[in-house]
Amino acid sequence: MLRTILIVILICTFAQARSESRLEKQGTATRLIVDDAPYIIIGGETGNSMGSSTADVSECIAKAKAHGYNTVLFPVSWELIEPEKGKFDFATVDDIISQASAEELKVVFLWFGAWKNSMSCYAPEWFKRDTKFYPRARTASGKPLEIASAFSKNVFDADAKAFTSLLRHIKETDKSGTVIMLQVENEIGMLEDARDHSDLANAAYNKGVPAELVSHLKKYKKSLHPQLLSKWQKAGMKQSGSWTEVFGDDIFTDEIFMAYYYAKYVEGLAQIARSIFPDMPLYVNAAMNSRGRLPGEYPSAGPLAHLKDIWHAAAPTINFLSPDLYDSGFTSWVATYALPDNPLFIPEIKATPANSAQAYYVIGEHNAIGLSPFAFNLRPEADYEYQRKGNETLQSLTPVIARHLGKGTMNGFYFDSDSVSRTIERDGVRIKASHYFTLPWDPRATDGSPWKPVGGLIINISPLEYIVAGSGLVLTFEPALSKAPTTTAILGEDGFALTPTAKSSDKSDTFHKSDSSDKSDKSDPSDSSDSPFPRLGLASVTEVSVSPDGALHRIRTFNGDETHQGRHIRIGVDDFKILHVKLYEYE
Ligand code: DGJ
Repeated sequence: MLRTILIVILICTFAQARSESRLEKQGTATRLIVDDAPYIIIGGETGNSMGSSTADVSECIAKAKAHGYNTVLFPVSWELIEPEKGKFDFATVDDIISQASAEELKVVFLWFGAWKNSMSCYAPEWFKRDTKFYPRARTASGKPLEIASAFSKNVFDADAKAFTSLLRHIKETDKSGTVIMLQVENEIGMLEDARDHSDLANAAYNKGVPAELVSHLKKYKKSLHPQLLSKWQKAGMKQSGSWTEVFGDDIFTDEIFMAYYYAKYVEGLAQIARSIFPDMPLYVNAAMNSRGRLPGEYPSAGPLAHLKDIWHAAAPTINFLSPDLYDSGFTSWVATYALPDNPLFIPEIKATPANSAQAYYVIGEHNAIGLSPFAFNLRPEADYEYQRKGNETLQSLTPVIARHLGKGTMNGFYFDSDSVSRTIERDGVRIKASHYFTLPWDPRATDGSPWKPVGGLIINISPLEYIVAGSGLVLTFEPALSKAPTTTAILGEDGFALTPTAKSSDKSDTFHKSDSSDKSDKSDPSDSSDSPFPRLGLASVTEVSVSPDGALHRIRTFNGDETHQGRHIRIGVDDFKILHVKLYEYE
């Protein structure tokens, strides 16, 4: 009996000892800390309705494991936890936590409260039916929308009450520390109009620009989004006045007004979360303003990059604004959110075979907190294996990455048919990374089919020493001060020229696919042999595994054909690897 009591006390003490997840700064990065260790979210978000049945939750958990994820993003639906006003039922929440915890997966909960993709579809029936007490947003013509008004105290109080009960319940029951982050609402934004024109909204609008917003803009003038700064400047940089006096008379001013009040509403929820979870990261996600649409055609006033300063001013308790990425132009979109005042986390990205490579890219290039494809549970099973290999390899590298986050020692690479190579310089070394298919040896390189998107990251662990990880990459290393080659003759696998170069023949018609980032690359690399600088060779190329303490363990050594006799390092397109590369200088 005494033994049992002791065991129970020990279990409880251990369970209580789990510390809350938190954010901490390291250099220019914001690191996520989970169970007191740096953590990168290599996760997936489930389809919207998957949290509502035990069977679906089990399926998602099993599929998340099969993808090699460490985290699952699950919605919590207001209608399910408060089916009757004031009566809460957390069965679905408990189910998710216990199933995830049993499989050692962490969970990010997405609060589908007053708004989900602009709409109030996840509000309980009793809320939806009582539009007098819980008023709707309206268009300029007075049309009521299925969007609760952010200006209504009744709406906020009802939403806040459910959110508070949810978080208190998680705090009391999640002793395993399974829940590591919270998303407040989902893709907030006005549709059909750029702002709410209900009576409550108009009353707020008529009060003019709040002094706290102007003082925030003044304080952070140097880092304001260029679009907002120029809008404010064009209107004369006024310090007070109506919304149109301060920001100009156009639809984008309506959007700024609306963003301020959406963010204020969210701040109210965020402060509640903070009072229950003092450290847990809180974020909001945005549908992109893409494809040339105007506010209201896209969800107006969400946490969009051009509105970041408005959101930061009105919702300072939110830790970051996150993009949901469904359009082409992946590397450009992520760059708009990876800012000194906004750490990058991608809670949703279209599920494609490229997802794992995309995770390497955002972590290497932008010190990202993580990346999570949407509706991973719907992905064809044939794609799982490649994702799993990529995700598990990346996870194993986390202890090394964690030491380098924010130190300026990493880069990411992401290539496809349109963007095939990139040249960077670091520490006196020019590193050219290219899509594996720039080597024309694989029939898929030249058979006309689109090149599979590939990606990876490089970590400069010490001078002339690197970790290169990812899939589908070829890298060469040269002294940065040597003459940059302007043509790249194509060599066969045997190292002989595949075709004569311009030097030996003027019939030189076979060259690499053009370099997306280094269009001047058109000379024979041997041109740099005249350079007075030492040249660089591969001292060793080792495939490694990484243990949890960050130590590297040799799996195999690559040389000969596998390094093109010392000319390059490479990882095939169907594979993921971690390579430890050492260079040496020779003259
Ligand atoms: C973005 C939303 O946030 C998700 O919940 C889901 O509706 C997807 N769009 C569907 O593409």
